[in-house]
Amino acid sequence: MIIKDIKTEFPIFKQKIKGKPLVYLDSANSSQKPKVVIDEISKFYETEFSNVGRSVHTLAVKATNKFEETRDKVKNYINAKYREEIIFTKGATEAINLVATAFGESFINSGDEILLTELEHHSNYVPWHYLKKKGAIIKFASVDENGDVNIDEFRNKISNKTKMIAFTHISNVTGTVMPVKKIIDLAKSKNIPVLIDGTQGAPHTSIDVQDLDCDFYAISCHKMYGPNGLGILYGKKKWLDKMPPYQGGGGMISEVKKDKITYADSPTKFEAGTMQTAEVVAFAKSISFFKNLGIKNIESHENEILEYGIEQLKKNNSIKIIGNPKKRASIMSFTIEGIHPHDIATILDDDGVAIRAGHHCCQILHDKLGISASARASIGIYNSKEDIDILCESINKCKKVFEI
Ligand SMILES: Cc1ncc(COP(=O)(O)O)c(C=O)c1O
Repeated sequence: MIIKDIKTEFPIFKQKIKGKPLVYLDSANSSQKPKVVIDEISKFYETEFSNVGRSVHTLAVKATNKFEETRDKVKNYINAKYREEIIFTKGATEAINLVATAFGESFINSGDEILLTELEHHSNYVPWHYLKKKGAIIKFASVDENGDVNIDEFRNKISNKTKMIAFTHISNVTGTVMPVKKIIDLAKSKNIPVLIDGTQGAPHTSIDVQDLDCDFYAISCHKMYGPNGLGILYGKKKWLDKMPPYQGGGGMISEVKKDKITYADSPTKFEAGTMQTAEVVAFAKSISFFKNLGIKNIESHENEILEYGIEQLKKNNSIKIIGNPKKRASIMSFTIEGIHPHDIATILDDDGVAIRAGHHCCQILHDKLGISASARASIGIYNSKEDIDILCESINKCKKVFEI
């Protein structure tokens, strides 16, 4: 597969939006799906469908095997030590809720502290916020105007009460690539577990959970050219073995009696009820897609488009780019004084340019920056410099409409 021609692998680009070719710059929200993934979903429903992990008939066994093969592929892709460390969820949000709830129940008590950063998506704050009911305290490491977290300040926020450090791999607003390894080393020196919200990390950079030595890593499959409604939680076996189930129901038990319930081991313990089946099976194709292209090639292509994008946006004096982090990936958020981001997004749509506007589920960061919303253009594997040129031309049209 050649990156230059990759758009042809995505059927969505065959259509026109308002008579214009689609310029899709909203991959941080959700990525488009390649034909291999779409075909696998159809094939599964047409010829292979069965619920998994229950019946013994031919289709059920085949479907279960394919489901479990994806688990192995994910394990290998992120270099987890054991397949039991890979749990399928409905998204990164559910993965983080699982940890906050189950880890929180066993290991976080009144007066304990959870350290986050001001860059966090609501999915990596709200689930922890619920632990305040137990008396837990949430602290935020602050972010400077460049969108960087100061490591010394981070260190000072850690205390002997800190029971979890949870932070994003890559910010979904500033594109900040966090110094993940440095923070994990810092946490490890104090024996504090770490959760990484890898939602924006996994689509753009290689993940080796053993090398990182993180305790939990949350992945959003729909941002990795995979099916919607699917996420993954990687968790170290030593924690998963000790954590209680997150949800109760069929499939996650060992034995149920009126007076006693015993639970299955991980990952089954955390996968209650009927799971996504076609989605899990098809995600194996997303992993093959990443492997065929090579994550280093993906990174360098996206960085080239990002650099060009930032350069072009900077030429426009009316645009204020949000953040100037030491290392940025795939995301360019901006404001234009006098035009609401929703108006920018609406006018860009007339040119077939899809971006996102709003607070991007990061109100804490937007409050800190003193703005209520921003426009965000985010880059995926199918974007080109031409897309950036169209984005910039469309922004100029937008300025004309508002006479700026
Ligand atoms: C940084 C970050 N964390 C978490 C999420 C939530 O992911 P999901 O949609 O898989 O629940 C998002 C989604 O935009 C995100 O950008």
